[in-house]
Amino acid sequence: MPTASAIELLLGQLEELHHAETQLGVSMHSLSSVASHPGLRHMMVRHLGEIERQKERIAQILTHHGRRLYPGRSVEIEALVDAARKRLETAPDVETVDLVLVIGCIRIDHYEMGSYEVAAAIAEQLGLHAESEMLAECLAERDGSAEILRKLQGEILKLAFPTEVTPEPIFED
Ligand SMILES: [Fe+2]
Repeated sequence: MPTASAIELLLGQLEELHHAETQLGVSMHSLSSVASHPGLRHMMVRHLGEIERQKERIAQILTHHGRRLYPGRSVEIEALVDAARKRLETAPDVETVDLVLVIGCIRIDHYEMGSYEVAAAIAEQLGLHAESEMLAECLAERDGSAEILRKLQGEILKLAFPTEVTPEPIFED
């Protein structure tokens, strides 16, 4: 039987994640509107669809354990989004805007993946297998998206900085 404090820890993590997803729903919408690269915009819009599913899973777990959803803010997501917005203000062209966006999205994905991984592991440890599976689904969705973003990052980086610098040979003949 899981202890009350262990369950409290898990539910507290899930409340934070619910706030993070809610905040992301608003921020990702406005950030995606400035993306020019079609692949990047597609990934950001796809993320918006996932947010609703992920919020739904978290809400299901929280209400099942007697928690009521309440509004709140995620300081982590706020910091990541603010940092991206500040960089966007000084981006000189659309290619750099896309690069700043892809970097911001990768950072957000890593925050989400870390959070879902920990929450799924705590749920599993507590014997809450259904909850753990639901959280692992959220993790898998973000993981798949991060993989595509990593590939896009290389392509967008080349568009932002098209000149490849060939390093000087270390040893002369
Ligand atoms: Fe998410």
